Amino acid sequence: MPKILKSKSDYGIDAPDVRRIMALIAVIGLLFLVFNLACFVYQVRDFDFLFAGSALIGLFLFSYGAFMSLYMTWSSKIGKLNTRDTLLETVGQIRSWSDNELVVDVGCGRGLMLVGAAKRMSQGLAVGVDVWVEKDQSGNTPDATRRNAEIESVGHRVDVTTGDARFLPLEDGTVDVVMSHWVIHNIEPEADQVKALNEMWRVLKPGGVLVLADIAGVPKYVSHLGQLGARDIRFYDGGLEARVMGVLSGGTYVPQALVCSRPVEILDTRFQSTRERDLIGQARLIQEPIISV
Ligand SMILES: C[S@@+](CC[C@H](N)C(=O)[O-])C[C@H]1O[C@@H](n2cnc3c(N)ncnc32)[C@H](O)[C@@H]1O
Repeated sequence: MPKILKSKSDYGIDAPDVRRIMALIAVIGLLFLVFNLACFVYQVRDFDFLFAGSALIGLFLFSYGAFMSLYMTWSSKIGKLNTRDTLLETVGQIRSWSDNELVVDVGCGRGLMLVGAAKRMSQGLAVGVDVWVEKDQSGNTPDATRRNAEIESVGHRVDVTTGDARFLPLEDGTVDVVMSHWVIHNIEPEADQVKALNEMWRVLKPGGVLVLADIAGVPKYVSHLGQLGARDIRFYDGGLEARVMGVLSGGTYVPQALVCSRPVEILDTRFQSTRERDLIGQARLIQEPIISV
């Protein structure tokens, strides 16, 4: 009997272990609070500073754990879908989605950005690359990604492959749009995160667009991409959500994003004057030894 597809796509829960820990903190806090209140109600002990302090600790643990686990659920199920739509709309303002032949989602997980992009494309292919780490996203498998693409009726336009963001299995300058959502912070050691950025830049076509979102570190990516020559950099500072969550998480969770483009190199010499051609030729002669060092 053919398997019946679920009617709604499901992009999983990010960092499911962290969410479990937050839920556990909430339960411990609640037990602490209930225990203290029971002692008070049944007059097992007198009300004093120690009592008030331990009840407050219970209240704090419960509120923090419950808020964080609810927020993480909301963010995985609703918040990041909104972010995805905003980012993909911005890409459409820079270059038409109908112009894209190849779109790549690096660390695609269950296909949040990948499927969203495929739904906007009128031609070409959206490819998801991932190493499928379960602790980064619940139920993270190529099959789950393909299933979401089928449910959203873009299975024919989506392909998934196994590959590491630091060594993308793609040729230089071949991708129209490179996207990566909440991936780079997972790469260890931290020094390797820049390798992933360089790889995304390497495979991007001149005139292509790069979309990056992460739970922390986006300002660093902005400055690195600026050094690589990125243009039209649009930085999304995450507004109030990023500020509040930054404080609550001690700076480890500040969801922000950027969209930028790679400038078109002057490759078409038909419209250049002899003088321009000479200058470009000289520039290449000067640059080549430096690049190959
Ligand atoms: C938090 S999930 C985000 C998934 C998806 N982009 C989304 O927003 O729903 C992080 C993803 O990064 C992937 N990942 C982690 N390290 C990676 C690496 N070195 N290369 C490629 N993908 C990686 C994980 O397998 C996981 O799918």
